[in-house]
Amino acid sequence: IKKIGILTGGGDCPGLNAVIRAVVFKAIDNGWEVAGVKYGWKGMLNADTVPLTKKDVEGILPLGGTILKTSRTNPFKVEGGAEKVIENAKKMGIDCLVAVGGEDTLGVANKLTKMGFACVGVPKTIDNDLGATDYTFGYQTAVQIASDAMDRLHTTAKSHDRVIVCEVMGRHAGWMTTDAGMSASAHWIFIPEVKGSVDECCKMLKARYERGDRYGIIAVSEGALFSDFDVEAASRETDAFGHVKLGGVAKALAKEIEKRTGLETREVVLGHTQRGGSPLAYDRVLGTRLGYKAVEMIEKGQFAMMASLRGEKVEAVPIEEAVKELKTVPEGYYKVSKTFFN
Ligand code: F6P
Repeated sequence: IKKIGILTGGGDCPGLNAVIRAVVFKAIDNGWEVAGVKYGWKGMLNADTVPLTKKDVEGILPLGGTILKTSRTNPFKVEGGAEKVIENAKKMGIDCLVAVGGEDTLGVANKLTKMGFACVGVPKTIDNDLGATDYTFGYQTAVQIASDAMDRLHTTAKSHDRVIVCEVMGRHAGWMTTDAGMSASAHWIFIPEVKGSVDECCKMLKARYERGDRYGIIAVSEGALFSDFDVEAASRETDAFGHVKLGGVAKALAKEIEKRTGLETREVVLGHTQRGGSPLAYDRVLGTRLGYKAVEMIEKGQFAMMASLRGEKVEAVPIEEAVKELKTVPEGYYKVSKTFFN
């Protein structure tokens, strides 16, 4: 091996720069060159790369986002795209590639390896919904941001005798909402995995007000499902990628709670705030360990594999295992958070 590439694809996530830095350091120590591919797979389609040295990645650990930029481009959705990626890799002398991303980005890496272009994967998503790894980096930071925001909502809600509905990202997984809600003592948590009852939540809120606890914080996943409320009809929309549009659930739920209880209710949408800013130490360390492992995997020829956290160890697992099904919140995990709905 003479030269490897690294790209970051999909939504950004705190800790991406830690992975890039680790890959650059370890690869250069191996005597390899590193090409930083710009804008995810789009950069492979356009042969858009920059050489990366240790100097280039100095001081990037505290930075949020990705110095390589990102996009949601999938070469398999572009005519002749996969062939173009392979052709460009040959032209640029890139022997193999580290793809840092979620389900979509890793799926591409897996397919390209089968077509002859060797790739390894590093799992990334604030949603924590990738299989075959205990945690994805960026998750802890995003949960902390949501938890801090909910702490703040408690004091303003209490001052005004209000209910505040706080919408948390996570797409079809309720990990962030459950953990942030538990951490910030939300009075009710709605997630996609377990259909929640708006009526039960309203009863709880009324009981709170009657006993003198005249405010309420409701954490809701952007993809939450309900047993007695048709949120789709109320306002949830999806975009061209089939992703739920931010804000729809919070708005609809706040309106519904106000209607059913008569209590003054506001909504807050955390949105991209959850993905921005400096990663926590945990995510910097996890990103570093995964990046280091990715280079080790290349050394050993473990392609179409992904660096994964298993307990205290970082191991190589087949990408196929990670992308075959979403890792969602088990009922037993959510049940613990329900103890504190009060
Ligand atoms: O997958 C990460 C994530 O932040 C989800 O939680 C959210 O639904 C989505 O990305 C938002 O995507 P975009 O940045 O394209 O609006």
